[in-house]
Amino acid sequence: MNDCPGVAKDVKSSDPCVIAIFGITGDLARKKILPALYNLFKMGLLNPRTRIIGIGRRKYSNIEYNEYIKSSAPDAAGAESQAAADFIAMNDYCCADFNLPYEYAGIKDFLKKTAVKYKICDFLYYLSTPPADFERIITLIHDSGLSKPDFLDISCAGAFVRVVIEKPYGYDIDSAKSLNRKVLSIFSEDQIYRIDHYLGKETVQNIMIFRFINGIFEPIWNQNYIDNVQIRVFESEGIGSRANYFDRSGIIRDIIQNHSLQMLSMIAMEPPASMDADSVRNEKLKVFQSMRPFDGSNPSSSLAAGQYAAGEIGGAPVPAYTDESNIDKNSETETFAAIKLLIDNWRWAGVPFYLTAAKRMPERLTEVIVTFKPAPHLIFNNFCHVSEQVSNKLVIRVQPDEGISLKILCKKPGFEMGLHTVSMDFNYSSAFDGALPEAYERLILDALNGDATLFMRSDEIEAAWDYITPILNCLKNREVKVKKYAAGSLGPELCGFFGLNIC
Ligand code: BG6
Repeated sequence: MNDCPGVAKDVKSSDPCVIAIFGITGDLARKKILPALYNLFKMGLLNPRTRIIGIGRRKYSNIEYNEYIKSSAPDAAGAESQAAADFIAMNDYCCADFNLPYEYAGIKDFLKKTAVKYKICDFLYYLSTPPADFERIITLIHDSGLSKPDFLDISCAGAFVRVVIEKPYGYDIDSAKSLNRKVLSIFSEDQIYRIDHYLGKETVQNIMIFRFINGIFEPIWNQNYIDNVQIRVFESEGIGSRANYFDRSGIIRDIIQNHSLQMLSMIAMEPPASMDADSVRNEKLKVFQSMRPFDGSNPSSSLAAGQYAAGEIGGAPVPAYTDESNIDKNSETETFAAIKLLIDNWRWAGVPFYLTAAKRMPERLTEVIVTFKPAPHLIFNNFCHVSEQVSNKLVIRVQPDEGISLKILCKKPGFEMGLHTVSMDFNYSSAFDGALPEAYERLILDALNGDATLFMRSDEIEAAWDYITPILNCLKNREVKVKKYAAGSLGPELCGFFGLNIC
């Protein structure tokens, strides 16, 4: 079959907009948001009349700020290309402490002058700040009159104001609800874009294409044929310079509450009626609402937690979590977690989903492994050694080496009935030219174009926290021990959790 460019939606370039980035000097803005905007611009997907206003406390001269933008936008660094120069010229800096109410008069003035000068009425506020600041910034945006385009005092019929909010969205169910209440008291749901960058990953989006366009999988995508599903997010990195954030968060809040559950919803959802934002998000929500609540009476039957001790990765020694700078020596924050979860609906009754996420694993690897039930009767038992590998597996490799593999058994050539597991592989790198787009490119473009399909709705977020909060409480009350594991190993129990072999 030929390519079908843009199956459900056409990629369209954004309309001119003022993008105001709160927290422009932070790591996320520098490493992800600015590079994504630059790449969109180079691809012709960011309207050249767009203005990007960075808001931060640091004092910059114009020249210093231009240097900062240059260093953030990968190949713009040092490059004297016209594209780099044009991109830099789209940027301006507004020096202000966005946590202080009296600073908003200056912010408003800056945004207003920009909008009037460039004749732009649309605004995208991007909150790339510490999560503790979200509620305050939203309140101050509202109190200073920035939440409606009327503040421009020019005719702006049909203009939009949207807000992009980074993860983590809340700290537990209560804080997530409180943040939702605040944000929804100022903006309507269709103005709010809550980011989980995993939803922007090409391979995660492809889960929907894979399931809902290839008709051969749907009849077997249920408890009749699937034995279990594993969703793993392993990183070899430690916590880097994010000690303050991570030690309060832990891996369950950092990865499982959002990235793992979002991937789970893509794997487990029913086919949506259409690809519009609400149809897709309705189906994801139903998955979250069908998850069996965590069994607090027997927590270790479905939760394992660990923290990395000193070890070795790629031949180099790495320190224990509690020896990382700015981490309390007695910290019990989990850097590894495994959760067994059940979805109580017709499709998934009885099928365990295992979510594992960890720092300081032997290698970086995110994948979904769907293990099918074995054949009902084995006629080869007398001929050959038959192991548990008889089960077929479908491996969706999210990163790195993105692709999909189906593991099947075949006869080993020869006179004996020997079995061998082989793999039918699809690799992005061999099937398609060029690098995969960055998740942030896709998500920012969608926010500019008003497409919220790949963003989390308020009820989805709350349903995910509803499930996760009792697990966090269980860890807080030390009902499950956080066991040590050597950095570079596969976690505290090495290969096994709840009877599952993850090696
Ligand atoms: C972030 C987490 O959301 O995702 C980080 O806060 C983690 O701790 C990162 O390292 C992983 O993202 P990716 O795209 O590198 O898998």
